[in-house]
Amino acid sequence: MESHFDEVINRLETNSIKWDTLEDRYGSTEVLPMWIADMDFKTPKVVLDALKNTLENCPVLGYTKAPDSLYEAIIDWQQQKHNMSLTREAILFSPGVVPSLALVVNAFTSPEDNVMIHDPVYPPFTSMITANQRKVLRSELTIKDNQFVMNFEEIEQQFKTKDVKLFILCNPHNPGGRVWSKDELIQLSELCYKYKVILVSDEIHGDLIFNPHRFTSVVTIDERYQDFVVTLTAATKTFNMAGTKNSMIYVYNEGLRNLLVQEQHKSEQSGINTFGYVATEAAYRLGDDWLADCLDYLEGNLALVVDFFATELPEVMVVKPQGTYLVWFNASSLGLEDQALTQHFVEVGKIGLNAGIDFGPAGSQFLRMNIATSRTTLVEGLKRIKYAFTH
Ligand SMILES: Cc1ncc(COP(=O)(O)O)c(C=O)c1O
Repeated sequence: MESHFDEVINRLETNSIKWDTLEDRYGSTEVLPMWIADMDFKTPKVVLDALKNTLENCPVLGYTKAPDSLYEAIIDWQQQKHNMSLTREAILFSPGVVPSLALVVNAFTSPEDNVMIHDPVYPPFTSMITANQRKVLRSELTIKDNQFVMNFEEIEQQFKTKDVKLFILCNPHNPGGRVWSKDELIQLSELCYKYKVILVSDEIHGDLIFNPHRFTSVVTIDERYQDFVVTLTAATKTFNMAGTKNSMIYVYNEGLRNLLVQEQHKSEQSGINTFGYVATEAAYRLGDDWLADCLDYLEGNLALVVDFFATELPEVMVVKPQGTYLVWFNASSLGLEDQALTQHFVEVGKIGLNAGIDFGPAGSQFLRMNIATSRTTLVEGLKRIKYAFTH
C-alpha cells in the first residue's frame, strides 16, 4: 500500500545537518546519509499548519512565554501515553535534551565528581560530562540474544566503591533501541535509591516504540522514585521537528528542581523560542494519527532491514531495535580498525553511517544506521551496505 512516507523528499540545500554537511563530514557529496537521528519524512502537517498560523496571526515575533495550553497538552500526553501524573510545577523547559544533559551535570554534581553512563551510549552523554569537568564512569552493556542487557552487579560494585553522584540512563537506548523492561528499571532505580545516586532518564525516544514492546517511564514505577529521578524528553524526535530546538525536564522533587532552576538562571536558559512552544503543543494535541502511521511505516522499514541482513549478510550480527529508528550492527567481519571501518563504508559503499566507537569503547567494530527514510532510499542504502561488506 502506498504511504505518504514513501515520498522521497529532497533535503539538499535546506541547511540540513544530515544532508548538507557531507563534504565536511565524509569528504564527499556522493555519500548517502543514514546517520544523525532525524527522519527524512515531512514534519506532521498539523505542526506545519500551527507554525503557519502563528506567522499569519502574530505579526510581532517578540518574547514569548509558555502558554497554559502547552502545559495542558504536555500533562495530557504524559498521562495518556505514559501514565505519568505531572503537575505544572514539575515541568521545566530547555532548548534541548543535550543542553539539559549539561544542565543536570552542572546542577547535581561538582567538578571531578563521578557520573555513570552505559557503554555504548549516545555520544553527548560522554561529552556533556567531560566538557563540564566531571568524570565518566562506564558500565558496559552486554549483548545477549542480540539485545543489550545491563550488568547490575557491576553497577552496584562501582556504586559501592566509587562515590557515584549521578547516573544518566538512555531509555529507550540509543544506539541499541532497547526499551528497558520495568524489571530492569526497578533494579537500576533501587540501586540508585540505595546508594543515593540521582537518576536522570533521557526518554526522548519514548514515543517511538515497536509492537509488542511497551515503554515504561522510570519515574512512574514507584512514588518513591519521584524524589531522585529526573526525566528529560521532547516532542522533537517523535514528530521530526528537531530544528525547533526545544525540550522538557520533568522534576518532582523540590530540592532538585531548585538546583535546576538556579543553574538555568546562570545562563537564562529557562525559556524556549516561539516556534518551539507552538510546534510542541500542536504535536502533542494533534499529532497522534501521524505518529501511528509513522510507526507503522518504520515497522515496515525495520522488517525489511532485518530480512535483508538475514538473507544477504547472515554473518553480520544485528541488534534489532525495540524502539527508536536506529539499527546497530557489527562489521568486524571486514577486519578493519575502527576509523578505517567507517571510511570503508564511505569510500567503497558510498554510505554515511555513525561510527560505533563514537558511542564508547564497547561500540568498537559497530556501525549505526538510521532507517527513518523512504523505502526507496532505505533499499538503496542497504544495497550500498552490502557492497561495502562484499568489496
Ligand atoms: C538519546 C538522545 N538524547 C538526546 C538527543 C538530542 O536531543 P536534542 O535535540 O533535544 O538536544 C538525541 C538525538 O539523537 C538522542 O538520541
